[in-house]
Amino acid sequence: MAMTYSEKVRDHFAHPRNVGTIEDADGVGEVGNAVCGDIMKMYLKIDDGIITDAKFNTFGCGAAIATSSMATEMIRGKRIEEAEKLTNKAVVEALDGLPPVKLHCSVLAEEAVRAALEDYRSRNGNRSGT
Ligand code: FES
Repeated sequence: MAMTYSEKVRDHFAHPRNVGTIEDADGVGEVGNAVCGDIMKMYLKIDDGIITDAKFNTFGCGAAIATSSMATEMIRGKRIEEAEKLTNKAVVEALDGLPPVKLHCSVLAEEAVRAALEDYRSRNGNRSGT
């Protein structure tokens, strides 16, 4: 059976937003999926508790690229506390769904955001940035 991807997933895969690295990032998170071997790296710039920039590099499948692209769009301009609540479910909903066998790819996006925020907090003595 052929898998169907929503228009939004295809758009974010073909034209991913915020691809790249941030040289002087305030938080960096790298996560991977041991089963498929895909890797996602997330870079955040945080100013006064607000995520002012987010970029990612994903070495992985199309769904992983689309979900990391959408996740960066969703956390930009958000407070750390809000970004920490980002779930893979919210990312999938924003993309109008993913085929069930690809849901694990969206978990990578949630984990990458969280890992980058944890890195920020550990660098800043667990402050929330406020
Ligand atoms: Fe590995 Fe999608 S198949 S993240």
